[in-house]
Amino acid sequence: ELFPQEFSSGNVSLKLKRLQVADAGTYQCLVRNSEWTQEATTELQVAAVAPVLIDVLGPRGQGIGLICRTAGWFPKPELQWVGKNGQNLGMEIVTDMTQERENLYSVVSHVTVTEGEDNGDISCIVRNGLLV
Ligand SMILES: *[C@@H]1O[C@H](CO)[C@@H](O)[C@H](O)[C@H]1NC(C)=O
Repeated sequence: ELFPQEFSSGNVSLKLKRLQVADAGTYQCLVRNSEWTQEATTELQVAAVAPVLIDVLGPRGQGIGLICRTAGWFPKPELQWVGKNGQNLGMEIVTDMTQERENLYSVVSHVTVTEGEDNGDISCIVRNGLLV
């Protein structure tokens, strides 16, 4: 969308809607009249985030299996399981990241929480490095 009513005040803004990862890159604006020319360049970065869901898979060996899932991130996010006092969980974690439609990343991570250990609340945290 352009805003012609703003041109007279020197504002030649362009609004991009329904952005995709492929829209990232360099944008150049060139304004010219009979007497002069002006150019500006800007770099557009695209970031995407999505809801994160945890499910309880049930008993796994000596523990309880949990799964954390999310789809639709860009760029590649970081996933972390966190227990009591914000500490990393010591248990074995298997994280699988795939890049799907429109280059967005999906993450699935499994953890087995051992019974008897006092983990407190367990969280799955997914972070987008562009947004910190
Ligand atoms: C330029 O116009 C757009 C659209 O009306 C507005 O959102 C933006 O804040 C304006 N920028 C300046 C610097 O006035």
